[in-house]
Order: sequence, then structure tokens, then C-alpha cells
Amino acid sequence: MMFAAGFAQDQKRGRVGRVNLAGERTGDVTDLQTQYEHDKSVWDACAQAYESAIVLGHPDVTAYEHFEEDLLDRILVYLIRDSGRCVHLHDVACGSGRLHLRYGLKSLDPSSRDPESVACRLQTMHANFQYSPSIAPGLKRVSGIDFSGEMLALARRKLKGAGLADLLDARLFFEQGSAFDLAPFPDEPLPVVVTLCNSIGVMQGLEGACKLFQAMRRSVEAAGGVAIISGYCNEAARDFALGNYESVLDACGQPDWLEPATFASRDYQQRPHAYKRAYDGGDTLVVGVYDNNNAPVKPGHVLRRMPERVAETIATGHIRTYYEYESHWYSSEQFRAWISEWWDEKASWHIAGSDLDALRAAPAQLAIYDPADRLRPFFKRLGIVKGVRELGEYAGQSGALWQY
Ligand SMILES: C[S@@+](CC[C@H](N)C(=O)[O-])C[C@H]1O[C@@H](n2cnc3c(N)ncnc32)[C@H](O)[C@@H]1O
Repeated sequence: MMFAAGFAQDQKRGRVGRVNLAGERTGDVTDLQTQYEHDKSVWDACAQAYESAIVLGHPDVTAYEHFEEDLLDRILVYLIRDSGRCVHLHDVACGSGRLHLRYGLKSLDPSSRDPESVACRLQTMHANFQYSPSIAPGLKRVSGIDFSGEMLALARRKLKGAGLADLLDARLFFEQGSAFDLAPFPDEPLPVVVTLCNSIGVMQGLEGACKLFQAMRRSVEAAGGVAIISGYCNEAARDFALGNYESVLDACGQPDWLEPATFASRDYQQRPHAYKRAYDGGDTLVVGVYDNNNAPVKPGHVLRRMPERVAETIATGHIRTYYEYESHWYSSEQFRAWISEWWDEKASWHIAGSDLDALRAAPAQLAIYDPADRLRPFFKRLGIVKGVRELGEYAGQSGALWQY
């Protein structure tokens, strides 16, 4: 099995790196529990900014999220309407409750509410939130787990603001806890357990990712449910990750491949003038600098890419910022290795995002554990073959995209 050099090294060391305000990569943490506690405080600190800059922000990220949601809609329709099953959707690392909001509204029969209520108005205004008669009758509950209390508080506020307070703790559930401790779900309703939007990439490095693969399998195995991990690919780091993280530096912190670090601390806000979209090879980023009272400090501040740091980030898919935020874009080979080690190749689907949606999911890959083979007819419609393959064995575009 071949891995990118950075992975082999990181995996051996079982640790991740940091960057200090002098711009040095330092402070490796080797222990999963210590890393977990550290990451929890990082996510608590960035919850609100993450929501506005990322979940509701960067157009390439929202495109990926919309792809995930459309795919999930179709899988739910297939399982509920076409296969006659009732479903329990469980969102691991649910963050601010993106799926709770979507499926809370999609399951809400508007005839049971005042048409002027907030929930009904949202259903009318947004096609994504419209009542779905193909999903609603069979979607029995939506639950989620996240280690960040701030994220969960934000999620609950969001649902209340959307007029769904009465569904909270009745059909929509949140739990604060670890993604690694999932217990087996009963077989009725059928569990569909998901980890979306590259949450695997922020789950405490390689050791955390292995634990996630194990936990996802454990949660659906006995029930014959479906587990879905959706993440970014290392292979797409150059064309997608650089511009993406540069554009959201007010939420995640200044990427460590940009200099100077004059305003890289939490004493300042650096707001980019515009989002950098995928395939933007520009070496500079122009930001407005503000203090924490929103007073302008420096307009038109220019940040420049450092070629060596950029090259290392592209090679390893390891994103580091001055806010101690870290993310990993794992290679397709790494996903494949985890499927082989922790799941079962014959019971799994490993799909390049571009094979499903080249415009919105090109930087993504999906690992799906499906021990009861429930999704075979569904993926057959889309021309997707079960199992994992060597790179280059794909007939479609994914081989090319995964190799970049
Ligand atoms: C990229 S956000 C994704 C949020 C959500 N899944 C979405 O798609 O909108 C990642 C989330 O993972 C959570 N997280 C990271 N490591 C975790 C762990 N070990 N257990 C539980 N949650 C974790 C963070 O708190 C954060 O909310």
C-alpha cells in the first residue's frame, strides 16, 4: 500500500503539528485525549465564526454541503419510499445542526401549522426546506453528537429560531460527547449514521480518524444500517484547500503558509475582500484588518503565499493556522487503507465525489459502510460499483481527479 510521504510519517509518529505566532511549526501533541481536549476548546472558540464564514459562507464549501444534502435526500427517499423502511438519521460531529434544520423542516407537515409561522415561511421561501412527503413519514428521528457545547448551543438556538422548538428533544436530539464512543443502534428504525463536511479531517488526526471508522461500523453493523463518511481529498488540496482556507481566515485563523503574521492573533480580525474560488492560483490575499471593536486598523493589507509551506501543505493535506485550528485532507489511498483495515472492502463503497457530482463534489470522497447491501440498487442507478479499487482502475473521471 502506498501513502503520501507526509502520511506515513504522521501515522508513525501519531501526532499533529501546530504553528506559533512566530510562524514556526511547533508543539506536537502525541496523546489522543490531550488532543481531544485541545480541539474541543478550539471548536468552542470558533463556533459562531465557523457558522457564518463556513456553513453559510464560502461558495465552494456550500456547494459541497449542498451536494451532501442532495445525496442524503436521495438515499433517504430510496430507503424510506422505495424500500419501505423507517429511518433514524444520526449525525456524528453534527456541529451547528445543519441536518437537524433541514430534516426538521422537511418532515414538518405544513398543514399542521399556521401558514404564517416561521417554519412554514422557511419551507415556502427555501426549496431545500420544503416538506418532503417521500421522507417525512419514515424519518422517525434525527439525532446528533458533537463534543463542542458551543456548537450544540448554537444548533439549538438555530432550531428554535426556525420555529422548531417543539420538535427539540421530541424528534430532533442533540448529545454532547465523543464521535468515538458510538453504541450499536437497534435495527428499527434503520440507522443511517453520517459524518459530513470533512469532520473526519478535524477529528484529532490519524488516531482519531481510525477511531471514527471503527465507531461508525460498530454503530450500524448489528442493525444492517448504513454509515457514511464524507471528506475532502488530499489530491484536491492545491486547487481547493488553499483558496478555501485563505478566504475564511477570520474564522479558522491565518493559514500558516501566508505571511506576514503581523495581525495573525485573536486581537485582530482579518477580513478578505472576496472569496478565492477553486483553482485560483493567486499568490496574494488582500484583507481589511479590524480590531475586536470592529474599528479599522489597516485597509488593503496584503498576505503572500510562502512557496515551501504551500508545497508542504499540498503534499500532506495538513492545514495549520495561527488559531491552532487544524484540518487534514486525507488521500484516497488513506481512505482506502482505513476501509480495508476497519471495515470490509466487500461491504463498502469508496466513491470519488466527482463520480457523483463533478461540479460540487470534485474535492470530496465518500466511504460508505453498507453491510446489508442496501444501497446496491441505488448506486446501480448512478453507475457506481461497490468495493474499493486501485487508482486508475476507475473508468470515469475520478481516476484522473484522484491523481490530479
Ligand atoms: C467541520 S465541522 C462539521 C459540522 C457538521 N457536520 C456540518 O457538516 O455542518 C466539524 C465538527 O466536528 C466536531 N468534532 C471534532 N472532533 C470531534 C470528536 N472527536 N467528537 C465529536 N465531535 C467532534 C467539532 O466540534 C465540529 O462541530
